[in-house]
Amino acid sequence: MCGIVGAVRNSDASGFLLEGLRRLEYRGYDSAGVVIINQDGDLERARTVGKVAELEHALNQAPLMGMTGIAHTRWATHGGVTEPNAHPHICNGTLALVCNGIVENHETLRQKQHEAGLAFTSQTDTEVVVHQVYLHLQKGLDLADAVRATMKELEGSFALAVVHAGEPDRLVAARQGPPLLLGRTDDESFIASDINALLPVTRQYQVLENGDVVDLRGANCLIKDRTGVVVDRLVRTSSQSGDSADLGEYRHFMQKEIHEQPRAVADTLEGRLRGDQVLEDSFGREATRIFDATRQVCIIACGTSYHAGLVARHWLEYVGVPCEVEVASEYRYRRHASREGTLVVTISQSGETADTLAALEEAKRQGVAGSLVVCNVPESSLVRESDLAFMTHCGPEIGVASTKTFVSAMTGLLLLALALSRRRGFDSGFEAHVVHQIRTLPAALESALGMETAIANMAQAFGDKQNALFLGRGAHFPIAMEGALKLKEISYIHAEAYAAGELKHGPLALVDERMPVVAVAPNDLLIEKLKSNLEEVRARGGRLYLFADPASGLIESEDVQVLHVAPVDSAIAPIIYTVPLQLLSYHVALIKGTDVDKPRNLAKSVTVE
Ligand code: F6R
Repeated sequence: MCGIVGAVRNSDASGFLLEGLRRLEYRGYDSAGVVIINQDGDLERARTVGKVAELEHALNQAPLMGMTGIAHTRWATHGGVTEPNAHPHICNGTLALVCNGIVENHETLRQKQHEAGLAFTSQTDTEVVVHQVYLHLQKGLDLADAVRATMKELEGSFALAVVHAGEPDRLVAARQGPPLLLGRTDDESFIASDINALLPVTRQYQVLENGDVVDLRGANCLIKDRTGVVVDRLVRTSSQSGDSADLGEYRHFMQKEIHEQPRAVADTLEGRLRGDQVLEDSFGREATRIFDATRQVCIIACGTSYHAGLVARHWLEYVGVPCEVEVASEYRYRRHASREGTLVVTISQSGETADTLAALEEAKRQGVAGSLVVCNVPESSLVRESDLAFMTHCGPEIGVASTKTFVSAMTGLLLLALALSRRRGFDSGFEAHVVHQIRTLPAALESALGMETAIANMAQAFGDKQNALFLGRGAHFPIAMEGALKLKEISYIHAEAYAAGELKHGPLALVDERMPVVAVAPNDLLIEKLKSNLEEVRARGGRLYLFADPASGLIESEDVQVLHVAPVDSAIAPIIYTVPLQLLSYHVALIKGTDVDKPRNLAKSVTVE
């Protein structure tokens, strides 16, 4: 989702700004732009629709040079994907601003600004913000005070950065919602939406808090809170690698990340198991106290992370822990009957999902025994806001569609279920059995990856399809949901998942010889039930594409294609059966020729609600 970078340097800032945008590309965007204050003290702007490479091309044709500048990747919310709507927005030729997030009262402000004689060149809510800052400057306020005054008038959730032609060594930035980080070296200062953009210049950073306004003047940066009081924010050191991501032998980051899963899960498990046991401090120093107080779990997440939560419910309930799983955007606006002893668990690869953050805040307001996040980004907001954190340690995920973070999050959640099982009377033999299975995960994932060639062949059948159904039962219903989500995200084929037993309650009407039906069929307690459901599909002429345990008894025929998944214990089966579905959607997307790593309209880090 939208990304901001800015710099006050003592040499040309354009290289840093462009590299910063490249490093924010993975978040998802549809246009990009930059403003630099040139050596004559004029604002110079370049904006393009499409990839950062387009902007780079434009800058190669007409370079912008200057020591202070701001840049932005835009993910359209208000107004279409056009160059005039791309940021930065400029008011009066002197003031340039970039903004992430949403300004809810933009219509009211726009009306007043019209009346004040200001003209508009875009349909965005951001242009209203730059006009508002300008109006305050006109009244004689200093730039930072004008930004603070503007923030008080804006409703919504946003982060912004602004430069003024009259003050070429200065940049002012502010946060009221989406994250904004400040980085400094001895004589320069930088802002960015996430740490990736700062890494080429520094690992040290400060996280602005809501209401903060920061005034950057080279090495001198002053942060004031919403009341105008000077504050200091903790200086953190990033543990992330500064290397820009490299595709290696793969065609896409998604393919690379699918293949990294054995290593990712091994890294997730590193230091988390001792002998036959899960180490509780993998979840944080306070884990034992909070787990002792936990009576039930409420999992809150979005999208793929929500699917990980649905799988975890099966594990938690198996060990006797009541569990509900909530979509964050629904949870945050619902009334709740809070229950004593609730451990709220958020799941988020980015740690920045606005709905999940707001839902966590709401859950904490209700009163909880503690909060735990399962997350891949140590420096993220959800990690900061939670009592406990289980870091998945699987390295940066660049492909917009989550793959290795999903598998690693499920692994972390299985460890959580084991840690809580001890308090539900499950003996050490049970934990030892599951831990043993968990240790086999990297090898079992590797074996599933060996199916790729066969899956690429299977994918051919989907090249001309507009729809697909995905079926699963038990803990594999969420895996089917995840398979359907992956297929729609990256191949744009409409796909829906059903609990296989639900088929006859409606969706069976969709089935005919043109409808591919994909099912995951591990050899578990529900296999015979699933086989009956699959027969219902066959009887209606549906085409079946099955990922099945060799012992399931499912056999190939003209209308049934079966690919065998090596036998796995049912405790870890959902994690393993994820892989063939990821590979299927990847290969279908290749056939469709879509932008696999950056599917249309989607963002990696969803920082607006
Ligand atoms: C799908 C996908 C999204 C995310 C969702 C939540 O491949 O990645 O559905 O799972 O936007 O994001 P996080 O996990 O960052 O909270």
